[in-house]
Amino acid sequence: MSGTAPAIQLTDVRFAYGKGPTVLDIPSFRVEAKERVFLFGPSGSGKTTLLGVMAGVLAGYSGGVEVLGRDIAKLSGSQRDAFRGSHLGYIFQLFNLIPYLSVMENITLPCRLSAERRARLKGVPLEQGAHAVAQRLGIDELLTKRVTNLSVGQQQRVAAARSLLGTPELIIADEPTSSLDYDHREKFLELLFESCAAAGSTLLFVSHDRSLMHLFDRQLSLPDINRAGA
Ligand SMILES: Nc1ncnc2c1ncn2[C@@H]1O[C@H](COP(=O)(O)OP(=O)(O)OP(=O)(O)O)[C@@H](O)[C@H]1O
Ligand SMILES: [Mg+2]
Repeated sequence: MSGTAPAIQLTDVRFAYGKGPTVLDIPSFRVEAKERVFLFGPSGSGKTTLLGVMAGVLAGYSGGVEVLGRDIAKLSGSQRDAFRGSHLGYIFQLFNLIPYLSVMENITLPCRLSAERRARLKGVPLEQGAHAVAQRLGIDELLTKRVTNLSVGQQQRVAAARSLLGTPELIIADEPTSSLDYDHREKFLELLFESCAAAGSTLLFVSHDRSLMHLFDRQLSLPDINRAGA
């Protein structure tokens, strides 16, 4: 076991949606700081649910969830939102872009809401930083457009840019390449790994694309760590 605090530590976590069946029953799950973990498993096995619990999006679980040293259960709803905005870059499976905002406004939103995250731009003006990330992902010509006017693959790259701007300590990516063609996938992965290495960020990456798994420090199957199965 490493001497430094883990980025994520789950202990005896159980979760069900309402009165439905148990989706997660995880005795122990730990991701070390700066580790790059690839998580896979069949559709419906609970990957998105697990990410939602760790990111403080889903409440109502039992057991312990510590993220970047914080016990998520001890935070109120608004504190969890603020914590996520400041410290996590979350690429949601369904993107969760704000439909009435432009691409630029979506990408810069977490940094506009969190002074701590904005400070990690190290003096680079916010829109300049956003433009640089957008350029790497090939969406710089779309910055003034509304996100609802974009293709699905373009929206996924907006979600990726939003998660990376302000280099959060923990990146949680839920099938972030599912709608990308080969070239855009390569550009995204290059930027993702470069950004994590430069900032010392931890990466938890969920994907069905096993051709990517060798790029990671560790590969985990959700059914293997989840007693609930699915
Ligand atoms: N909002 C919800 N309400 C009730 N049940 C849900 C909800 N979201 C997911 N589930 C159920 O929880 C289980 C796990 O779903 P989850 O989305 O976590 O799977 P997944 O591994 O991410 O699947 P996929 O690979 O298709 O994205 C499934 O049985 C699903 O039907
Ligand atoms: Mg999912």
